[in-house]
Formats: sequence, C-alpha cells, structure tokens
Amino acid sequence: MKAVVYHSYGNSNVLKIEEVEKPIPNDDEALIRVCASSLNPADWYAMTGLLLARFGNGLRKPNATRLGTDFSGVVEAVGKGVTQFQPGDKVYGARSGAWAEYICVRSFIFPKPTNITFEQAGGVAVAAITALQGLRDYGKLQSGQKVLINGASGGVGTFAVQIAKALGAEVAGVCSPGNVWLIQALGADRVIDYTREDFTSDRQSYDLLLDIAGSRSFREYKRILKPNAHVVIVGGPKSNRVVGALGHVIRSQLWAIGFGIKPTFFVARFNHPDFQLLGQWLTSGQVKPVVDRVYPLSEISAAMRYLEDGHTKGKIIVTIS
Ligand SMILES: NC(=O)c1ccc[n+]([C@@H]2O[C@H](COP(=O)([O-])OP(=O)(O)OC[C@H]3O[C@@H](n4cnc5c(N)ncnc54)[C@H](OP(=O)(O)O)[C@@H]3O)[C@@H](O)[C@H]2O)c1
Repeated sequence: MKAVVYHSYGNSNVLKIEEVEKPIPNDDEALIRVCASSLNPADWYAMTGLLLARFGNGLRKPNATRLGTDFSGVVEAVGKGVTQFQPGDKVYGARSGAWAEYICVRSFIFPKPTNITFEQAGGVAVAAITALQGLRDYGKLQSGQKVLINGASGGVGTFAVQIAKALGAEVAGVCSPGNVWLIQALGADRVIDYTREDFTSDRQSYDLLLDIAGSRSFREYKRILKPNAHVVIVGGPKSNRVVGALGHVIRSQLWAIGFGIKPTFFVARFNHPDFQLLGQWLTSGQVKPVVDRVYPLSEISAAMRYLEDGHTKGKIIVTIS
C-alpha cells in the first residue's frame, strides 16, 4: 500500500509517497481503508525536526517515519475481539501514521456522522478535541461567560468558536480581514479583524482568553482579563526552531509572575467521552467542520507548504482513496 514517509528532517520535499507493507489487524484492531486525513501543525513540527521533537523521535533522523493523525474511512476487516464495528462501516477518529491507504486502529475509532462527508470527518480529531479541552477543561468556560479566541479561523479556532457557542458562551474571535465572514457565519458574537483593531486595548474584558495564535504578549493580554479569568495557551508562532510554541508559553508565564492569573498550556489527549460529545454536536449540526482545501495524497508536499503559510481557513484535507 502507499503511505507518506519521511526519512530525514527538512522542508516539505522530505515527504515521499512509498510502498509499505499493508498492516494486518490484531485481535483488538480494525483495519481501515483511509478516505481522508488532515494536516496539523504537529506534523510540520515533526517533519522539520524541531529540536524538542527530536528528543522524542531521533536527534539526527526520524525513528517514526510516518505522519498524520486524523482519519476517516471504511472498515475493511476486524480482529476477532472487535464487536462494535464490522466491514463496511464508515468511521472516523485518530491514529498516528494516518497518511496511508490503510491503518489498523484499536482505540479512537467512532461511527462517522452521516451528515458530514469523509473530507469533513477526516479533519476533526486533533483540532476539535484540542478546542474542546482548551475551552472546557483548562479554560473552565461556563455558560454566559465571555471568551476571546485569538486565532479563530484556523483548524482549532473554527472548532473553538462553534464549541464555545455550544457551551453557551459569548464569543469574540480574532482573525484576518478575509476570514471575518467565516467567523461570523460560525456564530461568533463579535469578530475582530486584527489588522484594523487592537483587541488588547479595547474596553471589553473576558472570562477566558483562548490563545491559539500566540500573536500577542501576556503583558498585553492582562489589560482585557476579568479578575479570576483564565488564559489558555494552545499554540504560538512557528518561528522558534528549538522549542516552537513553548517559547510563547515560557514568555507568557514570566510576564504572569506576581499578576495573579497564570496562563495554562496543555497538550490535548484523546478520550472516548470527548469524541462521543463531539459526535453528538456533529450529528446535530451544532458543530460543522470547516474544510479549506482538499489535496490528493500525491500532493502532500504542496498541502504542507500551504499549512506552513499559517493562514488556513479551517482544515487542510488530504484524500487518500
Ligand atoms: N496544545 C495542543 O494540544 C495543540 C493541538 C493542536 C494545535 N496546537 C497548536 O495550535 C496552533 C494552531 O493550530 P491550528 O491547527 O489551528 O493551525 P492552523 O489551522 O494553521 O491555523 C492557524 C491560524 O492562525 C491564524 N493567525 C495567524 N496570524 C494571526 C494573528 N496575528 N492573529 C490572530 N490569528 C492569526 C490564522 O488566521 P488568519 O489567516 O485569519 O490570520 C490561521 O487561521 C499551532 O501552534 C498548533 O501547534 C496545539
């Protein structure tokens, strides 16, 4: 079968489509024919070989040579211990190495809601689970509270706007001028075009600041926080080649010393209840995945270059079969 493989760190040219062995499911696994997957900034960090990532995946060259996490597809076969799924079922979920024609999945596999396409379902897992956990678990967002989402128009942001509305919050989203219409359409109560308005010096104050873009400093954020507000850092600029977005986290935590509100950084973790909640929202239409561009697997390098630009509107999808 075909899969995207990389044998050295570098730019998008290191991504190759190679013939690799088709996986055979263990007793507790389902074999999935992958229809679609998506790109996440984590794939870019792994590909370029951010120093921090190299400690986990090989200092000089990657030990794990496959990328991609989100998937949608069709069950082709199941191990004899699998009872919830059968061949032909349409599914989505998360599994490392998803940029491939086939994957074996044990844990994070769920029925694909019938009202979304394979392309849409193939971009859900990482971005939507991150948005949910950032808002609800780390941001402690309650119905009626005001949340500001900085970086509202990308993969995590487009889910965050809709999930915050589903949680009953009043939502302000920050994005570039070309995406104002999108954030409005997703239900935000207020949209701030960061080229025209400085959201850190307006009169609004927020219970939660979900910082996805990491484009401003915590020193500036302080001005728009209510007492007892939460600040949750999801990501930051890609420019730091040693620690990536962690540079923004460290700077923010230094600026917070003595302030009384401490910014929280987290790494999203998959779990079944969160996927089930997302499944309900996707099925009811309360949360709709936003697809920006769709690339065939053969154009994975071009898709990665588009991600690298940092101005995705929703998700970049790769279609596989
Ligand atoms: N902690 C975790 O577990 C976790 C999980 C997933 C992702 N992340 C991190 O979260 C970040 C975003 O991920 P993603 O998948 O959403 O990325 P993405 O799809 O590439 O989106 C990036 C977004 O940033 C926006 N942006 C760029 N400059 C901005 C600025 N000055 N002000 C406000 N927004 C700006 C862009 O919107 P415009 O085009 O409108 O400028 C774009 O939509 C990355 O750093 C990623 O590594 C963390």
